[in-house]
Amino acid sequence: MTDFKMADRLASLPPYLFAEIDRVKNEVKARGVDIISLGIGDPDLPTPDFIIEALYKAAQKPENHQYPSYVGLRTFRAAVSSWYKRRFGVDLDPDNEVVSLIGSKEGIAHFPLAFINPGDLALVCTPNYPVYNVATGFAGGVTKFLPLTDERDFLPDLDAVSDAEWEKAKMIFVNYPNNPTSACAPLSFYEKLVAKARDTNTIVVSDAAYTEMYYDPADKPPSIFEIKGAKDVAIEFHSLSKTYNMTGWRIGMAVGNETLVKGLGKIKENCDSGIFQAVQEAGLAALEHGDAHAEKNRQIYKERRDLLMAGLKKIGISCREPKATFYCWCKIPQGYASSQAFVTKVLQETGVVVTPGNGFGLPEAGEGYFRIAMTVGKERIEEALSRLAKF
Ligand code: MLT
Repeated sequence: MTDFKMADRLASLPPYLFAEIDRVKNEVKARGVDIISLGIGDPDLPTPDFIIEALYKAAQKPENHQYPSYVGLRTFRAAVSSWYKRRFGVDLDPDNEVVSLIGSKEGIAHFPLAFINPGDLALVCTPNYPVYNVATGFAGGVTKFLPLTDERDFLPDLDAVSDAEWEKAKMIFVNYPNNPTSACAPLSFYEKLVAKARDTNTIVVSDAAYTEMYYDPADKPPSIFEIKGAKDVAIEFHSLSKTYNMTGWRIGMAVGNETLVKGLGKIKENCDSGIFQAVQEAGLAALEHGDAHAEKNRQIYKERRDLLMAGLKKIGISCREPKATFYCWCKIPQGYASSQAFVTKVLQETGVVVTPGNGFGLPEAGEGYFRIAMTVGKERIEEALSRLAKF
């Protein structure tokens, strides 16, 4: 009889949020309930045809059947650099300041291994994408959570971090447009953050996966690199997943400070063997020719958002109107002990899957909230609203 004990780093992990939701969802589904999934941020719309065609062509090239380059195809990295220039006015050297990723999650999960030593401190704005603090822990680091609150427009209070903590902190994770709260950060926030990071030799990890999911051109989210001096301290993670409906393809990129990009590349060299080059060629097509598609997506999500906002208002569920991302961060109605209790009851009684706010990083930061992902069509949103209204 074997007795394998998992490593301590796994024992201390909470269940991965979306895996846990899937488990409850499958139980309810097994009872024959028609599930409407507004849980995970996984676009329901297909990848555009021109990207699939680019993959098909690239998959036929024998040179793409061998190991890919570790840092990514030069042509893909050059396309990332051109896209950043066109979209944000930012210059990036494709040879030293861009690395391709198997999705931004992979890059974020590996990054702390390159710069965190056991006992080092990382600042994580919370509620948050759970990978930031989990990856910090995997590297032996310690997380200090910076709460994001409605009163502060879900921006961290950088002045609330003591000088000693800034000095000690190795890195700070920020994510705007924000998952799960949908908040956006103005340039003035990045300006202050970059200044602070430069003063205290702190790495800024900016997760910018949702910058293309905005609803009004006036709210177009910036990149941290629009701030002068940001390249001295920052690395930005981006993804093709949400912009081009490509979550299943696993392709993203990290850009910015050369040392930070190189450090991440070193970890990756030892963990993976790059991205299938045909997928990179398809990604290149997305970056070069995908602007019209991204605009079409924005229109679709805007219609969904407007429908959802009007419906939630009627039911009496309080929620800020998102200016970006496809998430709505809603307050749980009174009378429920916790976010978890509310979403479990909703799922069991209506078949509608939403995500409990306390599953995003520090539990108390998101307690009292739940997140809706607008990842179904308008008819299904209407159906979900009508079930919620009855509930
Ligand atoms: C989410 O639902 O928060 C995201 O889909 C997770 C992810 O992008 O990995």
